[in-house]
Amino acid sequence: MKPKTILVTGANSGIGYQTALALARQGYHVIMHGRNEQKVKKALEEIKEQSGNENIDSVIADLSLMAEVKKLAEKIKDRYDHLDGLINNAGTQMGNVRVETAEGHEKTMATNVFSPLLLTTLLIPLLSKSADGRIITVSSASYNQGTSDRYLDDIELKNNYEFSRAYGLSKLYVLWTMWHLENQLRQKGINNVTINCMEPGSAYSNLGSESLNQRPIWMKALVAVWEKLPLTKDPKIPGTTNALLATSNEFRGLTGKFFDFEGRIEKENREYYSPQNDQRLWDYCMTICEPFLSEAL
Ligand SMILES: NC(=O)c1ccc[n+]([C@@H]2O[C@H](COP(=O)([O-])OP(=O)(O)OC[C@H]3O[C@@H](n4cnc5c(N)ncnc54)[C@H](OP(=O)(O)O)[C@@H]3O)[C@@H](O)[C@H]2O)c1
Repeated sequence: MKPKTILVTGANSGIGYQTALALARQGYHVIMHGRNEQKVKKALEEIKEQSGNENIDSVIADLSLMAEVKKLAEKIKDRYDHLDGLINNAGTQMGNVRVETAEGHEKTMATNVFSPLLLTTLLIPLLSKSADGRIITVSSASYNQGTSDRYLDDIELKNNYEFSRAYGLSKLYVLWTMWHLENQLRQKGINNVTINCMEPGSAYSNLGSESLNQRPIWMKALVAVWEKLPLTKDPKIPGTTNALLATSNEFRGLTGKFFDFEGRIEKENREYYSPQNDQRLWDYCMTICEPFLSEAL
């Protein structure tokens, strides 16, 4: 039997690297995504060596740009006849200066919300060709912090930008968009594809490195101390959980669930959720994604 083919985004570093390694060790066909060719090549060689698995490919795309997300999906469709798993792991935490992408979107929202939504939607036809297609999206416990529905008037935080607010809201919005998509799948009777989300707890990684030069010294010191605390985990723990969520029989058929870093189902805080808020967010995201969605769902 052919091994399952699983795409992991942001696989050259941190939790994504550990996810790819865990999958490779179990003999799966892993497609490692990253945005920097050199970094991905290095990670791929290391994972091949550590796992003894040669069945590992790489793909490159800057996921803050929707045009690149679309090209990535097209490349995957050209190269592979089906996908058994998509792990939306790539994510960013920007700094105190609001950055817009070349396409004009706030970079945290573009990378953490619009991109996984677009990539997932474009790849659902390929995942539908699997008997057991699984989509796992990495959110964060930060979804729960400092959020408020009042920011739905300003989703890209043009007037209300603050880096932790952008990150927290992006991790809330990615949950809502995944649940919305999950609901659409059920309504369309696509039952061989599941969508679940997970929050990895606090794990040491390169998260935030994109904005290190913007951080005051006190914050760099705080992060350095935080990373030494026993509260901060080895990224191997959430990485292994991601791999299990994507492959283990234990999770087969489960959908619309929010898991913690050890694969336990968590009760999600829905304080700011309402069908109206969900629709407002969805409509906004669709104005961004629709130009790239010609032949998907
Ligand atoms: N670590 C934690 O404590 C923690 C807690 C909660 C949630 N998370 C979430 O876990 C996921 C993995 O993060 P991590 O902690 O493992 O951080 P990481 O080590 O920085 O890994 C993030 C990965 O995403 C990639 N990435 C970032 N922006 C990208 C873009 N525009 N285009 C393509 N790839 C991009 C990075 O590529 P480069 O290497 O090129 O930067 C890297 O491969 C993220 O979604 C993060 O929000 C992490």
